[in-house]
Amino acid sequence: MKVIDYKFYVNGQWKESQSGQMIEIQSPYLYEMIGRVQAMEKEEVDEAISLAREVQVEWANTSLQERAKYLYRWADELVNMQNEIAPIIMKEVGKSLKDARNEVVRTADFIRYTVEEALHMHGENMKGDSFPGGSKSKIAMIERVPLGVVLAISPFNYPVNLAAAKLAPALIAGNAVIFKPATQGSISGIKMIEAFHKAEFPKGLVSLITGRGSVIGDYLVEHKGIDMISFTGGTNTGEHLAKKAAMIPMVLELGGKDPGIVREDADLVEAAKQIISGAFSYSGQRCTAIKRVLVHEHIGDKLVGILKEEIERLAVGSPEKGNTVVPLIDNQSADFVQGLIEDAIEKGSKVVTGNKRDRNLIYPTLLDHVTEDMSVAWEEPFGPVLPVIRVSSDEEAINIANKSEYGLQASVFTKDINKAFMISNKMETGSVQINGRTERGPDHFPFIGVKGSGMGVQGIRKSIESMTREKVTVLNLSL
Ligand code: NAP
Ligand code: G3H
Repeated sequence: MKVIDYKFYVNGQWKESQSGQMIEIQSPYLYEMIGRVQAMEKEEVDEAISLAREVQVEWANTSLQERAKYLYRWADELVNMQNEIAPIIMKEVGKSLKDARNEVVRTADFIRYTVEEALHMHGENMKGDSFPGGSKSKIAMIERVPLGVVLAISPFNYPVNLAAAKLAPALIAGNAVIFKPATQGSISGIKMIEAFHKAEFPKGLVSLITGRGSVIGDYLVEHKGIDMISFTGGTNTGEHLAKKAAMIPMVLELGGKDPGIVREDADLVEAAKQIISGAFSYSGQRCTAIKRVLVHEHIGDKLVGILKEEIERLAVGSPEKGNTVVPLIDNQSADFVQGLIEDAIEKGSKVVTGNKRDRNLIYPTLLDHVTEDMSVAWEEPFGPVLPVIRVSSDEEAINIANKSEYGLQASVFTKDINKAFMISNKMETGSVQINGRTERGPDHFPFIGVKGSGMGVQGIRKSIESMTREKVTVLNLSL
């Protein structure tokens, strides 16, 4: 395969780094290099940020309708380029072609909805005399203004969608953006920016910085030219960033350990269908994957039987063949998942199916009789392994669910809507899905991680709000 050297993007131009250093991107399933990206230097980062600061002022003064036109053009270009971008996502992060194409189309939909949401967001007025002693002649006009330069850092697993989910709200609100994609995912990010470039946005408004997070990450996060950080990635990285970034607003969307709670009265066939799709699609490399099942002991055997049958039907192998369970992003990730499986077996868990490995391809694995002393009960595997913990009551399920350091989402499967609400009310998570798998979409819903799963809210309107602040202008009339 021909190896392409990709350039970084600053001032509307594609450039090579003065460092002369390149980072090799290996495909997780072709086991060969598919391209190289630039390891940028600090001076090049400085140039991008200083340009962003300049251009942002004019962009914020551009009318909303005008900004909207650029974003619509970007969405159109993404759709036009889907046959070029989707195969690159597939090769770079090992996602099936169908899922990769869905990601591109979903992103275009996201951008369009973001524009429409912004067009319908309005400020408010307040009158002084509604407060004791206040005057009727004082009127506050409250509007939202951009924060300035947003640093967008995205993870590998949705290299286009989770990046654009930061860029689009930032831009429509009048911000400039410094975009740092995950290194494994940066070629897909570059392709997304090629579509952006075709939309002819003002030069310097968005720059794409490539380089390892461990090398340039801290420099970016601590840079005085950054006004807001929108980060999606692992909890450890998020916590590190939060310590580094002083006094600037941040939204952190981090890891998860979403439980699927299955009550005695659940429709087990439907619950199993949702659990399997939640746990194993894209090999469980989704923050919102169902990562543990808490099932009532009276129906445990039955549910495990159905899950086993369905898991053994999952298509496993190369993403080029449209398989659901595909090789993990790298060998280190596969080693981590394998370690969790082995720890569970050693401590007495039963392998119902799976526990087979071929390089970084882990076959879908179901572990039964998992107990609280096993790491797989608590750790986020980001791989195709599903632990089943048997419980004797709703209270026990709630207790184990909430003991987790994470708090992204939870699913509750039951026919009793009152019980579903009772459990939902007690769940320490951003969202609870009743009789459905845990998932982020539809993308205009608020998406919230609490505890180790994050800080702040995403979702289209909420993202725009997080990248703007309220500004009050007070009219003092002579009435
Ligand atoms: P990651 O290793 O934390 O990397 C995320 C991003 O952070 C990458 O762009 C990475 O760059 C960058 N980074 C690393 N160190 C940095 C530093 N010191 N300063 C600034 N940036 C730094 O996560 P991942 O492996 O890509 O993604 C998997 C994790 O993300 C899982 O835990 C998953 O649950 C979570 N996730 C959460 C959500 C959500 O919305 N809650 C969505 C998707 C994924 P490099 O690639 O160059 O290291
Ligand atoms: O990996 C984290 C993503 O935000 C999950 O999105 O639920 O649409 O797969 P998803």
